Amino acid sequence: MMGLPFDNLRQRSFVIETLAREDATHLVPIHAGTFRQPWSEDDFHALLGEANVFGFIAREEGNRAAQPGGFVLARLVLDEAEILTIAVAPQFQRKGVGHALMDAALRHLYNARATMLFLEVDELNAPALALYRSLGFKQVGKRPGYYETPSGRSAALTMRRDLGHRETGSGR
Ligand SMILES: CC(C)(COP(=O)(O)OP(=O)(O)OC[C@H]1O[C@@H](n2cnc3c(N)ncnc32)[C@H](O)[C@@H]1OP(=O)(O)O)[C@@H](O)C(=O)NCCC(=O)NCCS
Repeated sequence: MMGLPFDNLRQRSFVIETLAREDATHLVPIHAGTFRQPWSEDDFHALLGEANVFGFIAREEGNRAAQPGGFVLARLVLDEAEILTIAVAPQFQRKGVGHALMDAALRHLYNARATMLFLEVDELNAPALALYRSLGFKQVGKRPGYYETPSGRSAALTMRRDLGHRETGSGR
């Protein structure tokens, strides 16, 4: 569990914890407040029931009853992983929560000996692109017109973060 201090007026801080299936209900409002196509509690419940899906949630330290600050969900298959979604509630954005959630996912994947982490992001999503680039993600693909936005269609960028583990072939 990691503490994450940040400096708003109330001096709240978050801890990053492993997501459990029971958290599904808390993810719905955060997702609905940050994405145009919200996912239901059943969607989250089903995903969190998959053996290969894992995630982390940012909870306010010392106040478990409060709405969580954000969460990340990912899937690991063999040695390749993908970010399924990440969302930080608007009032807690730009305070380091998203970075801490991604950092927790990356640490989990290093420990699991994963080699690559993929994600897809709207080319117009500047905050997410800045976050991913700051974490070392590189663009490896582009699907033009993938997302429908209020002002037309935009491309999905596929990004990859190399996790540095290599098969040695030595059989050790
Ligand atoms: C993308 C998102 C998860 C980032 O979460 P966050 O908690 O606000 O991000 P952080 O505060 O940890 O920011 C980490 C870095 O990301 C970049 N970043 C984040 N928000 C940014 C913004 N609005 N503008 C520019 N850069 C931004 C910066 O590099 C930042 O580091 P800095 O603050 O030291 O400059 C959040 O904006 C969000 O939930 N957006 C809506 C949902 C979404 O788009 N998810 C991604 C789908 S692919």
